Amino acid sequence: MKKFEINRENFGFHFKNLTEKEIDKNGISLKDIENLEYKINRAIKSIKDLREKGIAKGHNEKVLFTRLPYQSEEKPQLIERIKSYGERVRNKYKYVVSLGIGGSYLGNQVLIDALCHPYQTKKDIPKVFFAGNNVDPSSLQGLLDEINLEETMFIVISKSGTTMETMASFLYIFQKVNERGLKPENHFTVITDRKKGVLRKISKELNLQSFEVPEGIGGRWSVLSEVGLVLAATVGIDIEKLLNGAKKMDEITKNEDIFENPAYLYAIFSYLLYKEKGFNETVIMPYSDRLKSFSYWYVQLLSESLGKEKDRDGNIVNEGRTPIPALGTTDMHSQTQQHREGKYNKVITFIEIEDFGKSNITLPNENLFSEKLNFLNGKKFSTLLNTALHANEIALKNAKRPSCKIKISKLDEFTLGMLFYFFEIATAFEGELLNVNPYDQPGVEDYKKIMKEKLQNEG
Ligand code: PA5
Repeated sequence: MKKFEINRENFGFHFKNLTEKEIDKNGISLKDIENLEYKINRAIKSIKDLREKGIAKGHNEKVLFTRLPYQSEEKPQLIERIKSYGERVRNKYKYVVSLGIGGSYLGNQVLIDALCHPYQTKKDIPKVFFAGNNVDPSSLQGLLDEINLEETMFIVISKSGTTMETMASFLYIFQKVNERGLKPENHFTVITDRKKGVLRKISKELNLQSFEVPEGIGGRWSVLSEVGLVLAATVGIDIEKLLNGAKKMDEITKNEDIFENPAYLYAIFSYLLYKEKGFNETVIMPYSDRLKSFSYWYVQLLSESLGKEKDRDGNIVNEGRTPIPALGTTDMHSQTQQHREGKYNKVITFIEIEDFGKSNITLPNENLFSEKLNFLNGKKFSTLLNTALHANEIALKNAKRPSCKIKISKLDEFTLGMLFYFFEIATAFEGELLNVNPYDQPGVEDYKKIMKEKLQNEG
């Protein structure tokens, strides 16, 4: 391999520590990649079809997440409507509660964590809470103890409109709003399928404000649709900048030269390390609290998209790498021992933020207590964070453990849009290499059926 990084403005993919150059026989060689030529070319063609026609082999509905970055151009009225809805909510309500689970929740949590103040203390911006992402009564009751219904807008998000966690939370809150004599249309907004489902029916009956989970957008691919944009707009996130970041990544990842395409190359390395070298666990480890929930978003994307019993030809394959969420530096004090010395089956993907902007703080040049703490003198916190990351990379490399790194210049709407879209395209591409359908989730239907039957029979 001639180079070990793909750098674009604001974004870099560093993969030297995945190659045989750094980790010997555990690593990937140019020959390994060349041997995959047939599958790579097939995958490139499939993703081209996906982008141009929304067609995915073996999936009987359109797949349109690659259109989402272009909404500002293709649906300008929708973007304006979302922005003015966001402004109205921002000016009127003290709290916004986003109700949803899985793909109707995880990306929204990332948007708030990554782009808002960590304690959301700004007076002119509503404080956001999440509910409906479990049915633990203590969480919902705890939330209702904390907020004032009169000052709250609940955004209920469910594509199907029948998801247990979201709908149980909605029904309970609705009863409380009703008991308080408040008008539902002032306190509920719905995001659901355009035509189908219980929630669409409810929104019509109650004349609620509503948005759509667009056609061709499955839950885990939906953060850049109305599902994420509506909540983002209520706290003043620049949704156009978010989409522009995703658009930039779409342009970057259209390149058919895999050594110039970070998402395709990431997928190819992941595939080869998994299939050829037995690395079947993948640790996603951003070094920033603001991206902690990003790991969980990726866990869903990878698990539901690639964890499949059958391939597209009906063969039993029980496919898919197991994702593990981690956070630097926090989990260096818990998981890193395992990553460095446990089973040789993990690939670590680090995410590094170069510039922490205004929030970066510096330690005093001297400390009053001990020479043993002098290594901290005068250091920026971002230096501590990223030096810890670099040290982890080197330690793993020394142990011949594969790792790679996504590096962004700073964390803002634009680079977050890039990150979301990078992992979406990489996952779609890896699905093509594996020959599985990344857009369905048949494995969750069975438990849902059993659970609903059991609940029908409960008193
Ligand atoms: O990715 C998916 O399809 C799932 O995680 C769904 O988003 C999740 O089950 C919630 O579904 P719904 O939006 O129908 O409530």
